[in-house]
Amino acid sequence: MSQKRIAPSILAADFVNLQRDIEMVNASNADWFHIDIMDGVFVPNISFGMPVLKAITKHARKTVDVHLMIVEPDRYIQTFADLGADVLTVHFEACTHLHRTLQAIKDAGMKAGVALNPHTSVDHLEEVINDVDLVCVMSVNPGFGGQRFIENTYDKVKRLKALIERRGASTLIEIDGGVNDKNAKALIEKGADVLVAGSFVFKSEDPISTIKNLKEIVGQ
Ligand code: DX5
Ligand code: ZN
Repeated sequence: MSQKRIAPSILAADFVNLQRDIEMVNASNADWFHIDIMDGVFVPNISFGMPVLKAITKHARKTVDVHLMIVEPDRYIQTFADLGADVLTVHFEACTHLHRTLQAIKDAGMKAGVALNPHTSVDHLEEVINDVDLVCVMSVNPGFGGQRFIENTYDKVKRLKALIERRGASTLIEIDGGVNDKNAKALIEKGADVLVAGSFVFKSEDPISTIKNLKEIVGQ
């Protein structure tokens, strides 16, 4: 079985103590940093932008997974590469020329991800799946942390896994939104590789042991 990863979402961190929370993730069993960039246009919320990302990547010592919830992501691909993103994920719904966008992300030296809103079928990825390093399956509507997990996600992940296998692709499946110790195991069983967890980690009493517990649940 391939390695299963836990990616704490910094959106749920304490921004007054951002360095402390980054060091906590560095010291934990977590695999990736998940960073949510929201523009207030593609989603009804604004998170943070380049100066904050720059501060994060200065201290982060693990893979930096950037999830762009913005319109016209092509405009900023090089900027995110320069800021230290390792994985750059764009939304399917925000890209008119998805194939071109994916190539541009790879040309800039990053892994290329595509995020699907809850209403977007995995079938839309049929023609492009071999060019995608990661599919981020949104298990809540993007824009906010702390929302309730959408149950249809299990079935969607199963269908995505089948598509990846049928096409002989090596794409990772990431789940984003409402992940906790109750749904983690079932998501892995359906085919997930990376679990993003925001509130469940940062609002817990002991984030280090919450991450450790999640890692044990996913089996690594
Ligand atoms: C939602 C973001 C998520 C969010 C997850 O739009 O993409 O990454 O931070 O937070 P939780 O785990 O609290 O649902
Ligand atoms: Zn996200």
